Amino acid sequence: MAQNTQNIDALMAEERTYPPDPEFAAQANAQAGFYDQDPDEFWEKEARERITWFTDFNALKQWDRPHARWYLGGRLNACYNCVDRHVENGLGDKVAYYWEGEPADERLTITYADLQSRVVKAANGFRSLGIGKGTKVAVYMGMIPESPVTLLALARLGAPFTFVFGGFSAQALGSRMVEMECEYLVTQDASNRRGKASPLKPIADEAMDMAPTVKHCVTVRRTGSDVTMKQGRDLWWHDVVDTQSDDPASCPCEPMDAEDMFFLMFSSGTTGRPKGIVHSTAGYLVGVATTHYYVFDIKPDTVYWCAADIGWITGHSYIVFGPLANATTSVIYEGTPDFPDKARWWEIIERYRVNVLYTAPTSIRTHMKWGAHHAEQHDLSSLKVLGSVGEPINPEAWLWYRDHIGAGRTPVVDTWWQTETGMIMVSPLPGLTTLKPGSATRPFPGVEAAVYDEQGKEIAPGEGAGYMVVKAPWPSMFRTLYGDDERFRETYWDKFPDAYLAGDSARVDADGDFWLMGRIDDVMNVSGHRLSTTEIESALVDHPDVAQAAVVSRYDATTGQAIVAYVTLKEGAEGSTEKLAELRDHVGTQIGPIAKPANLVFSDELPMTRSGKIMRRLLKDVAENRELGDTTTLADPSVVDELKQRSEN
Ligand code: WTA
Repeated sequence: MAQNTQNIDALMAEERTYPPDPEFAAQANAQAGFYDQDPDEFWEKEARERITWFTDFNALKQWDRPHARWYLGGRLNACYNCVDRHVENGLGDKVAYYWEGEPADERLTITYADLQSRVVKAANGFRSLGIGKGTKVAVYMGMIPESPVTLLALARLGAPFTFVFGGFSAQALGSRMVEMECEYLVTQDASNRRGKASPLKPIADEAMDMAPTVKHCVTVRRTGSDVTMKQGRDLWWHDVVDTQSDDPASCPCEPMDAEDMFFLMFSSGTTGRPKGIVHSTAGYLVGVATTHYYVFDIKPDTVYWCAADIGWITGHSYIVFGPLANATTSVIYEGTPDFPDKARWWEIIERYRVNVLYTAPTSIRTHMKWGAHHAEQHDLSSLKVLGSVGEPINPEAWLWYRDHIGAGRTPVVDTWWQTETGMIMVSPLPGLTTLKPGSATRPFPGVEAAVYDEQGKEIAPGEGAGYMVVKAPWPSMFRTLYGDDERFRETYWDKFPDAYLAGDSARVDADGDFWLMGRIDDVMNVSGHRLSTTEIESALVDHPDVAQAAVVSRYDATTGQAIVAYVTLKEGAEGSTEKLAELRDHVGTQIGPIAKPANLVFSDELPMTRSGKIMRRLLKDVAENRELGDTTTLADPSVVDELKQRSEN
């Protein structure tokens, strides 16, 4: 199992505990007895309490392993649940989003009534272009109000979408649009990043060249950057949307079947080709609304900020659909945390009196590196709950988060989940759980998580580590991999006959608390972003000068893991500094800047087994400067010594 040892040693040694504060516990949404609920009764109750159905469901679930169906016969609309019903219920004046642009003093307060007006206009505009129930749409945007508006408008029309993170390349966007056969694309000219315009439309243009199914592209003007508009295909958002009616009756919410595909989220897997993870409408919405409500202890006046990007599952579930379904007031921030200075986040928390902050360990470690003095300049006393997601959190970062951001007082909820699970699966509940730094503690009610050994036997609490699994279906579980049900079965369901294989290793301690320890496959986690070693290897080998490439991750104190690439060049090509930069850029163009290797080592040979497989485990040891593991099956052991020397230079 590939793991990062430094972090695990720290986790294994961790013994501190933090019981819930009695005052917090008394007012918490989850009270004693919460964990004793019967899973089916729980999911039935939550579905009725949290969601408004056009037609009630007549069966809770159907489990035909590995295919689950939830809330059968139910009809609903996600946009109606996130927007319209709140306005109908008198919450029109409540703030849905405080939007904070990256340029200082550029702010918007968007109430639920404003949101409805924007969404109805956008939906009418999209409909005028031919988007309707079942039309597939790609979205490639940054953190602007039009991003959630677009997703809600598509949900209103019943059009399944795939939102591709703005940091992905033309190649990545194009292949995703091809895979889903998208007919439309919504994007923006460029997004603001650290004071500069970072282009999106030019990348979208290149991507559309690869994806001939795209008929129209709608572009929001955000930065005013120069863009090329292709006659007949490309339209401006303001031309399509601004003149439309905002009367909700002009564009009613399409009643969708509970199991209709809601969206696709592409995620890295163990092979080069990203997986199209399919989420359904009702189960997804119930799952994210329920977990959001209890894990973050959401009250009617809570101001909540999930500082992820909408382009990731965290953003879908916990910036858009979960919070809006619960009629929560959220913050959306457009830019980077260090613009114009490193106190920007803390300034935002002070300005909006944020009660809940949800972010990734990488961000916490970055702020740690920058120093607590930035946070100390601001009044963070409004904070009540701090959340962490995306990667294992080391106890040091956990404690820093609680002490310096949460004044040593706020609970830290370390939430474990995946694109596949749709919702938080293992997490403390801030009013009930005794916290342990680095532990995600307990499965959420209605989630039957466990740790299995190689033989598929459950490992008892305190008895060691194994495979993280889930033994029963949950509402927001992904339904399949788009167009590849076979891969869905093989990847997640074939290893154990009675459980879902998550792809992580974990242990349960003697108290029954879960400790997640990293991936067991070739998926890396860099700054909380999932990347596949094979995908990056393919990108490198795609370069005309590259003969062979092997990619591994090494431990990194800030980003958790960092990418190290070993490259053998073809005859005649020279491993120069320029070549190194060229190859890194090539990966950037193929996948996206987030996939660029932190280190790239040229090598005449890569360590191979006698049967011709690259020995990644050895390369990882070299990358992490560890004692080398067993090299006896290596074809030429001297290769490793040479690599070690090169890596040190
Ligand atoms: C990792 C992000 C430890 C894990 C929501 C998982 C975590 C992968 C945690 C999913 C956590 C996520 N502790 N590891 N609290 N949360 N992970 O699909 O390896 O981008 O399998 O979903 O991130 O990443 P994904």
